[in-house]
Amino acid sequence: MRQRLAVGNWKMHGSLPENQALLDKVAVTAGGLSRAIAVVCVPFPYLAQARSALAGSKAASGGQNVSQYPKGAFTGEVSAGMLREFGCRYVIVGHSERRQFFGEDDATVALKARAVLAEGMIPIVCVGETLAERERGITEEVVGRQLGVVADRLGAEGLKASVLAYEPVWAIGTGKTATAEQAQAVHAYLRGVLAARDESIAASMSILYGGSVKAANATELFGMRDVDGGLIGGASLVAEEFLAICRAADG
Ligand code: 13P
Repeated sequence: MRQRLAVGNWKMHGSLPENQALLDKVAVTAGGLSRAIAVVCVPFPYLAQARSALAGSKAASGGQNVSQYPKGAFTGEVSAGMLREFGCRYVIVGHSERRQFFGEDDATVALKARAVLAEGMIPIVCVGETLAERERGITEEVVGRQLGVVADRLGAEGLKASVLAYEPVWAIGTGKTATAEQAQAVHAYLRGVLAARDESIAASMSILYGGSVKAANATELFGMRDVDGGLIGGASLVAEEFLAICRAADG
């Protein structure tokens, strides 16, 4: 069964009082969802706040990044074990902003996903093409390669315990959403890539869409056959928007 998910990625936004108001509302709304899980991926310093605000609710918290190393002299890094201790159930890996601004390649993303799995959490593995790559007609090649490297390194067991997110780079923070048909086409392609490896993994994998998801387009996007919910940036910072998106993911 494919888990429906609405995952908020706050990116580098937030403050203690703003977060509290938002988290309290997410905790309440999550309780009213019947099949979707609401998740908030907050900046590291706010993980303790998210854990306590969401305690006892059906919502989950997550990290936006993680070190590929378990411990050691890696100044500024945060390990998967630390994220687990602070209540994370999910961790985003390979977000395009990490790839673009912090030089993360496919092999590093795969190591990070493995580190997350080793601590019993769920990696949300992001793939997506840039505008130039889409215009060159190599979207499938790009996302297929990104998924392939991670799939090779995780193996069937690891892959089965992961979530995939398709985030076209040209749609992130631009207000330019992929159409529901564009999203569906890539999601179906990704599911096909998985099916070629293992039919049961393809059937159970949640594939989220991310890129300018809003309350106004969530229902149409999440209504597509291979779209199992969303990874939401800007709109996850606005309570009414994010809560409406959570309800759209619930169907
Ligand atoms: P926006 O929803 O702001 O476009 O961001 C998408 C995203 O990158 C979520 O991870």
